[in-house]
Amino acid sequence: TKQGLKMPDNFLWGGAVAAHQLEGGWQEGGKGVSIADVMLAGKNGVPRVVTDGVLPDGNYPNHRGIDFYHTYADDFKLFKEMGMKAFRTSIAWTRIFPNGDETEPNEEGLQFYDDMFDALIENGIEPVITLSHFEMPYHLVTEYGGWRNRKLIDFFVRFAEVVFDRYKNKVKYWMTFNEINNQTSWKDPHPMLQNSALKDYSEDEAQELMYLASHHEMVASALATKVAHEINPEMQVGCMIAMNPVYPASSNPKDILFAERAMQTRYYWGDVQANGKYPNWLLKMWEHKGFNIGVTEEDKEILAKYTCDYIGFSYYMSWTVSDTGDEWLEYDETTNHGDNPFLKQSDWGWQIDPVGLRYAMNWMWDRWQKPQFIVENGFGAYDKKDENGEVHDDYRISYFQNHISEMEKAVVLDGVELYGYCPWGVIDLVSASTGEMAKRYGFIYVDLDDMGEGSGERSKKDSFNWYQKLVKSDGVDL
Ligand code: BG6
Repeated sequence: TKQGLKMPDNFLWGGAVAAHQLEGGWQEGGKGVSIADVMLAGKNGVPRVVTDGVLPDGNYPNHRGIDFYHTYADDFKLFKEMGMKAFRTSIAWTRIFPNGDETEPNEEGLQFYDDMFDALIENGIEPVITLSHFEMPYHLVTEYGGWRNRKLIDFFVRFAEVVFDRYKNKVKYWMTFNEINNQTSWKDPHPMLQNSALKDYSEDEAQELMYLASHHEMVASALATKVAHEINPEMQVGCMIAMNPVYPASSNPKDILFAERAMQTRYYWGDVQANGKYPNWLLKMWEHKGFNIGVTEEDKEILAKYTCDYIGFSYYMSWTVSDTGDEWLEYDETTNHGDNPFLKQSDWGWQIDPVGLRYAMNWMWDRWQKPQFIVENGFGAYDKKDENGEVHDDYRISYFQNHISEMEKAVVLDGVELYGYCPWGVIDLVSASTGEMAKRYGFIYVDLDDMGEGSGERSKKDSFNWYQKLVKSDGVDL
């Protein structure tokens, strides 16, 4: 084993998942149809297709998840055995407001999460909860056009208020919108739907709609933060950012300038949510493009007043860009990336960059001055069972060793404030980008394949024992 640096005693070593990727039970307990329920399975390199409503013979992996809706009590026992102190999941909005525009919540859905949070707390595990993790009522897409519509602010705040009030004595850590900045890739319909429920728009209006939808989400997030603090001032409401550092491909000053603009572009959401205002470069860009985002004086006041309490973020990879020669430095996330010759990639082409995590934590600390929470980090891989039915995932262990070691340096040597660390997909689940089960992240193996075939049985991978030791030693026994 490697020697790590000791983390603070109250550090939240945990694990992370999201409702739609593991619960299943998509029509149980009065649940409505969510945007994740109309996404077919894709594959490595094959995007997921979004259907018009649910088709009878489609393979919709999120309908099944890993059946966690029925199995969570047993799964939590394994989490406890592993030493987890925190569990990040999300509340499926459609269990609480099946269509999103009702005035009264669905009691069965509320009770489901009451029971789940009780079970967690009984196992000594702190819930960390996202309100909208790539999931919201599909009805809000078809009837309201998704987040382009200002009415969604009220629907979201109502949902937030209901769950904050209901779970005020059970849940302290919250986040509003998962990876809100994925929409930087607005040319890709997948994040547009997952993040902002945008469907059926023309290519010409996509970018402007993305900024408009994001604006409404950020106002909604600020208002939810206000409500949370009124209900219980102890509550911590974070933003949630997908942190993928963008590096210059060379030391050419033009590349450095362009990479800086790529960072400004990807992380302006954090600027608004943590600093409370839009950066000037973006306002100039909107003017230049003739975009009308309709930011009112009242909106500005709300954003300035109710900033997030902490920065929740995911970390998987970094990217590299070269200058494109554009005077406005416009960054196009779908075409501007090149490979980094210093880094290896996963089987899905994600560049593995542990040092980038320490870099990112320092960058965010300087920029936003808020405590951080790593709510996702992990390694998607094709796991193979050996003849004894065991998974020896040393590649995953080494990914974690390298990343956690950099995280520890950021905290212990650089003084970045960090609430905790929740590795992604602590138990195997449905991949968000591809819908596969085969892209596995877990310390716990789940016997199900891409078609949902298998016993569903849970078993420990080698990484399970490794993580257990790490947590026991407060991060020393890497
Ligand atoms: C993040 C998401 O993008 O990365 C998760 O918040 C997702 O929902 C995770 O599952 C890993 O991505 P993927 O596509 O490999 O499942």
